[in-house]
Amino acid sequence: RPDGELPLKGLAVLVTAGPTQEPLDPVRFLTNHSTGKMGYALAEQARDLGAQVTLASGPVALDAPYGVDVVDVTTARDMFDVVTSRFSDTDITVMAAAVGDFRPVGRSGIELELTSNPDILAWAGEHKRPDQTLCGFAMETRDLEANATKKLNGKHCDMLVANNLRTPGAGFAADTNVVTVLTPGETADRPSIERWSKMGKDALAKRILVKLAAMRADGERR
Ligand code: C5P
Repeated sequence: RPDGELPLKGLAVLVTAGPTQEPLDPVRFLTNHSTGKMGYALAEQARDLGAQVTLASGPVALDAPYGVDVVDVTTARDMFDVVTSRFSDTDITVMAAAVGDFRPVGRSGIELELTSNPDILAWAGEHKRPDQTLCGFAMETRDLEANATKKLNGKHCDMLVANNLRTPGAGFAADTNVVTVLTPGETADRPSIERWSKMGKDALAKRILVKLAAMRADGERR
């Protein structure tokens, strides 16, 4: 299509990606299996759809995408700082990072003392203006639709993309994903639910972004 019709043209998109690392001493840290592939695919596709893209990235082994403003972070609190400082200038925010829920605060003997990290997505949901669009991700191992519904509502998202870690072709290091996409429905306990079949993370990223753009266009018409 002609350049002027790019669905995200003129929009600022913020993506979070990758794991966080929570240091427990100068040598060791707590982290998770996230490779950043989903978030990087979202950033690249958003760029190709015409957006100005900021990518808040935890430590990953991927190359920085061209034409994207990459902000490297280490801890959940670093990522929180990037998102909170940029959020008001953002039209669409997609949080694909696997943020550590806890960080070490001390040690007594061999016991590790932990405290909770800020929930960045929940913060964004609380501070979202009506003209802003917020999409979260969720990895579940059971009761996917019930848990994803709770996150969609509880974190005030416009879209929640959930996948089951146990489904073949879904999850961390794969190049594909199998997702269920929830958007607010008639009532809070009955969101609209779409089950998308297995596809590459690039195709999935594009489809998510095109759907978010369509939801925004819909909202403007109403
Ligand atoms: O509740 P749960 O961690 O499953 O929610 C996952 C979603 O919340 C993802 O979009 C993730 O990026 C986001 N999240 C966050 N900050 C946290 C924990 C999760 O932004 N501390």
